[in-house]
Amino acid sequence: MSTPQQFSRRTFLSTAAAATATGLVSGGPVAADVMTAAVDPTPLDGPIFVSTHAFARVANEKGMEILAAGGSLLDAIEMGIRETELDADNHSVAFGGTPNADGVVQLDACIMDHIYNAGSVAAIEDILHPISVARMVMERTKHVMLVGAGARKFALSQGVEPTNMLTEDRRQRWEEWLKTQEAMSLEESHDTIALVARGADGKLSGGCSTSGWGYKMAGRVGDSPIIGSGLYVDGQVGAAGSTGLGENVMRYCGSFMVVDFMARGAHPQDACIETVRTMGRKDPQDLQDMSLNFCAVDRFGRHGAAGSDAGFHYSVTTREGSQLINAVTVVE
Ligand code: GLY
Repeated sequence: MSTPQQFSRRTFLSTAAAATATGLVSGGPVAADVMTAAVDPTPLDGPIFVSTHAFARVANEKGMEILAAGGSLLDAIEMGIRETELDADNHSVAFGGTPNADGVVQLDACIMDHIYNAGSVAAIEDILHPISVARMVMERTKHVMLVGAGARKFALSQGVEPTNMLTEDRRQRWEEWLKTQEAMSLEESHDTIALVARGADGKLSGGCSTSGWGYKMAGRVGDSPIIGSGLYVDGQVGAAGSTGLGENVMRYCGSFMVVDFMARGAHPQDACIETVRTMGRKDPQDLQDMSLNFCAVDRFGRHGAAGSDAGFHYSVTTREGSQLINAVTVVE
């Protein structure tokens, strides 16, 4: 693991003032040194998978395997995320996920390719692989997003078998929770997988899957299935995904903002930092309480991640192997 880095918002504000004074940046106080698009970097030779958290490494590596076997980048994203969805020990994604306040596991997922095709499901029940249903929405319907009972009905109509998603272990935890109704810690409740990737040909895709906020209100939808919030892919620029408190990410279209910074010339690392800073600056809450975390890859295969949660890590897999990297922590 690399050494944790911290980035101060106060430092940024003085840098930003200087940047604005030079007239180098328009559209708000953005650090000039972040927007350096003078010369294209040498593209990475080969594919790269970038994802939130240590547990997503298996998704990255599955994605690599799928590509090596001749699958498409979208196949790699879907099959990679399916690995995480199957993991009963992960209590924030699909099978074994934490239920809502009524004891029902409701899942959110989305997928997007390099030419702005997108599919999404929200608050879907009894479905083992919401990421696959999101892809079916994208490829087999005229719509982008299906929710709740409609999403489930569509999945079953496509031959998906219903699955009980509430494990005995999570059911018992939920019963304990009913007695105290204590809020879950962020560590327990927001370990969404966002997986973004660039193929050897420079094409980009991404996906996202979560069981969302533990013991959420029935029907609550987070950022993860919202195109532009939990995930955004612009094939001409880059791809970004988020993990954290969806209510905060979705009010700012967080992943779109990361991609927008990249479109204006920022390295993926700087784009993630600037996004967290921007949201923290605008929002009345303390940044430390917002749980905003992003990872990104650009069309050249460069990657980065930043968040307001100290200890946020991201997984990167290339032909050279996998790495778990400390994301930059943005502080007040
Ligand atoms: N980021 C996952 C959620 O808030 O649902």
